[in-house]
Amino acid sequence: MILRTVLIIILVVLAFPILWLTLAKLVRKLYPFPAPAFIGRFLDSGYRRWLQPPAQVIQRSGIKEGMTVLELGCGPGTFTTFVARAVGPSGKVYALDIQGDMLKQLERKLAKPENRDIKNVELINSSAYELPFEDKALDMVFMVTVLPEIPDQDRALQQVNRVLKPGGFLAVTELFPDPDYPWKSTTIRVGAKAGFVVDEVSGNFFNYTVRFRKP
Ligand SMILES: C[S@@+](CC[C@H](N)C(=O)[O-])C[C@H]1O[C@@H](n2cnc3c(N)ncnc32)[C@H](O)[C@@H]1O
Repeated sequence: MILRTVLIIILVVLAFPILWLTLAKLVRKLYPFPAPAFIGRFLDSGYRRWLQPPAQVIQRSGIKEGMTVLELGCGPGTFTTFVARAVGPSGKVYALDIQGDMLKQLERKLAKPENRDIKNVELINSSAYELPFEDKALDMVFMVTVLPEIPDQDRALQQVNRVLKPGGFLAVTELFPDPDYPWKSTTIRVGAKAGFVVDEVSGNFFNYTVRFRKP
């Protein structure tokens, strides 16, 4: 009896992620749209930071002082202030998003007294398909739960490739409850197809980072 109950619990625990992934992917395939701005409150919440600690994501991505970083799909700025502090005054962060309403949330966040010391962030309202940078201008492109949300990932990654310096990094981080969550192997395949080389894979099934290098 106990064994049967344990088996049923294990089956339910295993079945939930598979069911969620299948259903969510189906719905997102039928109706592709960027994450609505009203979820900004959840994205930039204490719970989210507990699930996906910014310091850990930054360390896994390899963000260092002095870097010029493009945060592509920055949303409400969950990670932006942390990235800005990690690159320091000698570095620069371009926070780019396709939705003006997400950038407004980030603007409000940056205006808060505790963030007024941050002077190295520039907000850009643009699409991943048209990155407004010169060729080979950036040290890193940083994307957290964004890449699988972009319908034409190849096109976006060609742009990323163009704007990165040779030897520059593309850091892609994904989180499991995200309805667009891709398997690690999918992220690696998409990056490799765009000409990137895997530099490091870190994290676990639920929260992972793949850091690619531009050869
Ligand atoms: C799930 S949210 C993640 C936001 C933030 N990176 C985070 O982890 O909290 C995805 C973000 O990517 C943006 N996005 C989606 N497609 C985009 C595109 N083609 N170009 C630029 N940004 C895009 C959305 O507007 C949204 O703010």
